[in-house]
Amino acid sequence: MKYAQLFIDEVNRIHEANTYKYETAFTTPQAGEVTVNGKRVVMMASNNYLGMSNHPVVTKAAIEAIKKYGYGMASVRFLCGTQTIHLELEKKIAKFIGTEDTILFSSAFAANNAFFPSLLNEKLGFESYRDVIYTDGLNHASIIDGMRLCKTETTDKKIYKNNDLAQLEQLLETDTNAGYRFKIIATDGVFSMEGSYGQIDRLVALANKYNAILFVDDCHAIGVAGKTGRGTPEKFGVLNKVDVLTGTLGKAIGGALGGYIGGSKKMVEYLRQKSRPYTFSNSLPPAVVMASIAAIDLLMKDRSIVTRLHDNTAYFRKEIAGLGFTILEGDHPIVPVMLGKASVAQEMSKALLKAGVYIKGLWFPVVPKGEARLRVQISAALSKKNIDHALNAFESVGKKIKIIN
Ligand SMILES: Cc1ncc(COP(=O)(O)O)c(C=O)c1O
Repeated sequence: MKYAQLFIDEVNRIHEANTYKYETAFTTPQAGEVTVNGKRVVMMASNNYLGMSNHPVVTKAAIEAIKKYGYGMASVRFLCGTQTIHLELEKKIAKFIGTEDTILFSSAFAANNAFFPSLLNEKLGFESYRDVIYTDGLNHASIIDGMRLCKTETTDKKIYKNNDLAQLEQLLETDTNAGYRFKIIATDGVFSMEGSYGQIDRLVALANKYNAILFVDDCHAIGVAGKTGRGTPEKFGVLNKVDVLTGTLGKAIGGALGGYIGGSKKMVEYLRQKSRPYTFSNSLPPAVVMASIAAIDLLMKDRSIVTRLHDNTAYFRKEIAGLGFTILEGDHPIVPVMLGKASVAQEMSKALLKAGVYIKGLWFPVVPKGEARLRVQISAALSKKNIDHALNAFESVGKKIKIIN
């Protein structure tokens, strides 16, 4: 009873602070338009960057996979949870992102949780050792949790300010003769609250200069960044040069679930032996595996999908700024529309839903105090008509609540 009351008090406190009170339930697939409360609305809050969540080629592959390979694997990978399609998907992702090999996980969260302790908590023949992780201040929760799983006795963590590579270099320079066994630089490829990129080319150079391992989480970049959607290494001209590249199958690549770590063959082989979320958690279901293969095949065959995403993004960014809204500049499909107060973001999100646009606000503690925003996410699934509808709604709601003139 005592504990139950504590939870009730905390939930009430959270609700009063106007955090995320409700989740809206949909009755349609994820797409450019969805139905919510019986009404068609334009979806502008989804990670379905390439519109593959309900693409006929992708859904057909999932259905065929169930017919041919069944529903579930009922096993972890190393017991009896590996079908030939799991191996095929690992090879396909590797070829696409430009690493020697990849290893699948049930999510990117699990992949990021797996990587750091698998490497840093092992002696690997050293009698004594210390490791260090240099981590960007805006890194995703899954990287932070992955680092938390490393033994504090042997792992130092040094946080540098978001994208402040001068500060990072200073830390690396200071540690030149510190005798660390492993030095890892960890960054998101795309910072998802900002829609901004890690400076991957400069990070590759720093990692080489200071003999560090570069770890990049490309969850919001695979299928999105670079001319052909291969991610931040393609965008920054450093394909094959990032040591460890993680990503998700839960956003652009079909949008269901699944994650991976890409890197050298030897590292992947090592992770198959040592990473606990791989060894002790179930294998991805065949439908997800086959649909992910189909999604990557589609992406490699038809470049116009990525081009449409980039064109839609450029159009929306130009027009929304033209209406007088303050956005965080850039070219990523995550477009934060800055509003300042949490109450304004909440009011605007509600008014936009009424006007037929689904979009979510972010406010403290998800972003710093006073930087509440609506986070628009553009998709290749949006037609020009959808985007124009959203822009008109932004204009009328923005004027009504006096954000723009
Ligand atoms: C940067 C980043 N890393 C990791 C994840 C986790 O991805 P998954 O849903 O595959 O666990 C996310 C998802 O929001 C993300 O944005």
